[in-house]
Amino acid sequence: MKGIILAGGVGTRLRPLTRITNKHLLPVYDRPMIMYPLDTLKRSGITEIMIVTGREYAGDFMNFLGSGREYGVELSYAIQDIDNGGIADALKTAEDFSAGQSVAVILGDNIFTQDFTRDVKSFSGGAKVFFKKVENPNRFGVPVFDAKNKHIVRIEEKPKKPKSSLAQTGFYLYDSEIFSIIQDLKPSARGELEITDANNIYLKKGKLSHGLVKGLWSDAGTIESLHKVSVALAKRAL
Ligand code: DAU
Repeated sequence: MKGIILAGGVGTRLRPLTRITNKHLLPVYDRPMIMYPLDTLKRSGITEIMIVTGREYAGDFMNFLGSGREYGVELSYAIQDIDNGGIADALKTAEDFSAGQSVAVILGDNIFTQDFTRDVKSFSGGAKVFFKKVENPNRFGVPVFDAKNKHIVRIEEKPKKPKSSLAQTGFYLYDSEIFSIIQDLKPSARGELEITDANNIYLKKGKLSHGLVKGLWSDAGTIESLHKVSVALAKRAL
């Protein structure tokens, strides 16, 4: 399976840090942020990887990572032309790269300590999302379960009143249908093509499965989460 790292967007919540570089090149503990999703894919057995980023700092990513050989991966790059088009808009640019096959997608600001080797190997179509219990679910996509607490009925993006304590993490598995689903998406209230809308379409079709993330998971997209995850990783390294 090929992998796609989505590293576009303008990193508004990390200003002024993101006035001098792209969010995914900022340090998280001892490495630039982009190294973590790269490593997660690699540990999951995925070495053919596309990095999608905006045009402003694309050259810096290439300068830093090159062909990927140094890191044991084979890298391609794509440009998301619209700065804040949304996660699904960024993913759209990787359609040719996917060549009609299933893909693993990871958000460039998501840090995992587990790998997804088993999920990648056993993936047989549709879409699969991964949740983690968190204290502040309202910052994330949050699943709503049926009365028996068994099946997901929908995933709500940044709900004011979350209906569970699970957050949708930024690792997804998709079959090739994802690209035609994205084609039909309409921008959300914040003007973005939302990956949660695409996941809800898979859900309606009965083609969405889910798993739970073990170990540490955090995004690093706010000053607070960037600091917290750096401290947590530093403690683990000691
Ligand atoms: O971290 C998990 C959360 O990520 C999920 O729970 C949410 O359902 C999902 O919508 C997303 O929420 P955020 O609001 O935190 O996403 P953010 O805008 O910070 O974007 C996350 C990454 O996606 C970012 O590091 C790079 C990539 N991205 C984002 C946008 C908006 C792009 O490549 N292009 C974009 O236009």
